[in-house]
Amino acid sequence: MSKDYYSIRINTIRGSEPVPFDLYVPVGAKYVHYTHAHDDVEEERLKTLKKHGLKKFFILSADEQKYLKYLEDGLNGLSNKDVNINDRASRANDTLLISVENAERNLETEFGYNNQRMQLEKISKFVGEERQAIKSMLASAGLSMDTTQHSATVTGLSLAIANKLGGLTKEEMTELAYGALLHDIGKQRLKFDYNIPFDKLTPDQKTQYKAHPLEGVALLSGKPFISPRILGLIASHEEYGEGRGYPEKKNLNKMDISYQILSLANKFDRFCTDKNLEPNKAVDPFFDQYISHYDENLIAILGTVLS
Ligand SMILES: [Fe+2]
Ligand SMILES: [Fe+2]
Repeated sequence: MSKDYYSIRINTIRGSEPVPFDLYVPVGAKYVHYTHAHDDVEEERLKTLKKHGLKKFFILSADEQKYLKYLEDGLNGLSNKDVNINDRASRANDTLLISVENAERNLETEFGYNNQRMQLEKISKFVGEERQAIKSMLASAGLSMDTTQHSATVTGLSLAIANKLGGLTKEEMTELAYGALLHDIGKQRLKFDYNIPFDKLTPDQKTQYKAHPLEGVALLSGKPFISPRILGLIASHEEYGEGRGYPEKKNLNKMDISYQILSLANKFDRFCTDKNLEPNKAVDPFFDQYISHYDENLIAILGTVLS
């Protein structure tokens, strides 16, 4: 695909409101012009496109800054209770998907980092203030094995748990969100389909798989704006219980609370997809299976934010 185009998520486009850039839809290997800048996209047309499975529009790369401004306006609208909660939640979920896709790139420049941080703060405020927000975001995402959606879900869940728990500084919240967005980036280096259930992997593949947290750290070390805490969160996201996880068999219960939140959110989302359970129906069986592996209070908070 030509690099003159930039993909954007359809749920970030607001219906019946002028869109300040041209929109294109992919047809085969081509981009077909869809709407002109400053035209509205009617709500009904958007719904039809979504119904047909369209997930992304394309814009000219030259319009990226206009899109970021548009996205910011959309995130400011997350608190607008006149807009249906499910539409706002879909917008928040799609913004998180964009965040996952661009997280590595956004850590390269001060503009990228600050812009990303602003987006995460607005989503954090949304899940912190609206009881229904995280539930609607998870419903919008559906049960998905896709790594991008998994990382977005883990980010939303981590922010919801941390907001409910309270006590984390703004900086710690941002680092937690970045750690969540990037936690599985090391899977890019695996040479096999990592969506295969773990117990179906060969012994060699299992060893490779268990290295993915540290592969992620190796990929990101030395990048500007990546703090030791973000690297620590990535390194430890598969640790749980008293040395039950990997790669270093750490005692999770003795680790900083943000590490515990990320590990819990990560395990819980995988549990939901592996068992094919809606998140609110997964809390009780998860509690039964993992009570000794996570802080009881944190699991209770997870239950509260999903109830
Ligand atoms: Fe992982
Ligand atoms: Fe994960």
